[in-house]
Amino acid sequence: MGRWKRVLAAAHPTAGGATGVRWCIVNRMEPYPQSPRRHVPAAIPRPAYVDRPGPEVCDSPDVATAEMVARMREAGRIAHLAMMEGAKHVQPGVTTDQIDAVVHEFICDHHGYPSTLGYRGFPKSCCTSVNEVICHGIPDARPLEDGDLVKIDVTVFKDGVHGDNCTTVGCGSLDQASTDLMTRTKEAMDRGIRAVKPGRQLNVIGRVIEAYAQRFGYGVVRDYTGHGINTAFHSGLVVLHYDQPSLTTVIEEGMTFTIEPMLTQGDYRSHVWGDGWTVVTNDFSRCAQFEQTIHVTRDGAEILTAP
Ligand code: MF3
Ligand code: CO
Ligand code: CO
Repeated sequence: MGRWKRVLAAAHPTAGGATGVRWCIVNRMEPYPQSPRRHVPAAIPRPAYVDRPGPEVCDSPDVATAEMVARMREAGRIAHLAMMEGAKHVQPGVTTDQIDAVVHEFICDHHGYPSTLGYRGFPKSCCTSVNEVICHGIPDARPLEDGDLVKIDVTVFKDGVHGDNCTTVGCGSLDQASTDLMTRTKEAMDRGIRAVKPGRQLNVIGRVIEAYAQRFGYGVVRDYTGHGINTAFHSGLVVLHYDQPSLTTVIEEGMTFTIEPMLTQGDYRSHVWGDGWTVVTNDFSRCAQFEQTIHVTRDGAEILTAP
């Protein structure tokens, strides 16, 4: 159980009243102890960046070959199944480290490498981001509580390529506002995916996602984006979730990238914990995220992170 703190109800729409500024008790996320590093069998090939300091070398192409895409289907499939396996274990009392263990074992059992483990120093095999944590939460000894909103982001490296996906699930009984946020964030991602077509500007994705989010007054996180992905975890290609008309990149058949909107109940602005990873909304409003890795086809998008 975390420490209970007095915070402004106005800054926390799920906990307080809608009118005026009142005090209420809200449980804020905070870091818990982390378990020792998990082992990956030596026979499983790992990405070149593992345990190397500094940025990943992004020499991967924006447009993948058909043969690369075939390998990404398999990495994506394992990433999806591992994520669903982790999500199944979300219930009050289970720690995010236990979720990480489930994800880790599943990936290794399928001869994949958990791409986040050792990525620029990240210590775990997936990201678990709860409530006001936007993304990059580090699995630790915090037991999940009834009503928590839990994001699980899993990436798998197999056969030289990555597949990256994220889902949001409720722990126990979720309040209506969080349930709505979850459903609509999934819908925002699906709309972004449906907007993908060769010849259109990449910016169309952010435009449809932001327009949809604005209907509900949600914040759209700007500091973290979708990204090109294939032989690199994060290639140079950037996929925004908001409208940025100056982004004139054109979508091409064969491109592979993620669409991963993060929508907040309040302000989209964020800060990072002292651990250098955990990203939290400044107003402590809750955040949901969904992510899929897609491949641009002749007339739309193929989802690579699918069973
Ligand atoms: N999977 C995340 C993404 O969607 C990246 C996690 S990087 C980590 O891009 F180091 F935080 F794990
Ligand atoms: Co991603
Ligand atoms: Co991800």
